[in-house]
Amino acid sequence: MLPFGGSARTLLLPRGDLGVPYDAAMIGVFDSGLGGLGVLADIRRLEPRADLVALADQAHAPYGDRPPESVAAWTHAAADHLIGLGCDTVVIACNTASTVALASLRAARPDTAFVGMEPAVKPAADSTGTGVIAVLGTTRTIEGPLLASVVERFGAGHRVLPIALPGLVDLIEDGLVDGEATGRLLAARLAPALEAGADTYVLACTHYGFARHRIEEVVGEATVIDPAEAVARQALRVHPEAAAGSGTLALLTTGDPVRMRRQVGLILGWDDPVAPVRLSVPVR
Ligand code: DGL
Repeated sequence: MLPFGGSARTLLLPRGDLGVPYDAAMIGVFDSGLGGLGVLADIRRLEPRADLVALADQAHAPYGDRPPESVAAWTHAAADHLIGLGCDTVVIACNTASTVALASLRAARPDTAFVGMEPAVKPAADSTGTGVIAVLGTTRTIEGPLLASVVERFGAGHRVLPIALPGLVDLIEDGLVDGEATGRLLAARLAPALEAGADTYVLACTHYGFARHRIEEVVGEATVIDPAEAVARQALRVHPEAAAGSGTLALLTTGDPVRMRRQVGLILGWDDPVAPVRLSVPVR
């Protein structure tokens, strides 16, 4: 049963008994799956009055190894959906989607404020002692132009090791982050960075924040940089209306809402209803 009333703007997924007011200035948070919930949780912690809608495209997740044209099409459809619900700020809380679609979203929707992810190479370059930085992301992000551009801008004089972690997003989505497979994957994939003396690890996939404790087990004393809070702060800077909101939250998925509700409970300890949503984009 869709928790929507008569029009796309009648969003009835309240916290408590509150409906989202028609005129609420909402922040939309988009990711392929659960990763965006890290940014969402930080926004709520920093500004509990913010009215928020989070959309997870779990029907197509993981994005990390998908063709860029498909990821761009899904991301545009998701952004259109969030804008249609009344979000005037949209956080693309996904490095993969930011890599392939942020520029075209801004061009297509000039009235919407988009906040995107960018691999945090700059803070890593500022804090590394050994000068060796590992950037962890999906294949698409690791091979994409956004990382290349931040490395060119901020990585000068440092050795930046881009490391793709295919499979980690699935383990997180499947609730297996604490299992042995995660440890094996990380030990194998991070070995070259450990050998090279990396002392700073950048999480360039929003999902990886939920595997931070497992990454720290492998990298020991090294610094792990997760930009989720900085992105949440940026969203609140461009959306000061959040302070005048009523703290409503809507969680939407293109996948299975029952599964997502369980996943949200596991990783955030929240027990909020999740609504199914369909994006108007051909499945590729
Ligand atoms: N959480 C996303 C990112 O930041 C996408 C992961 C995926 O779907 O592969 O890259």
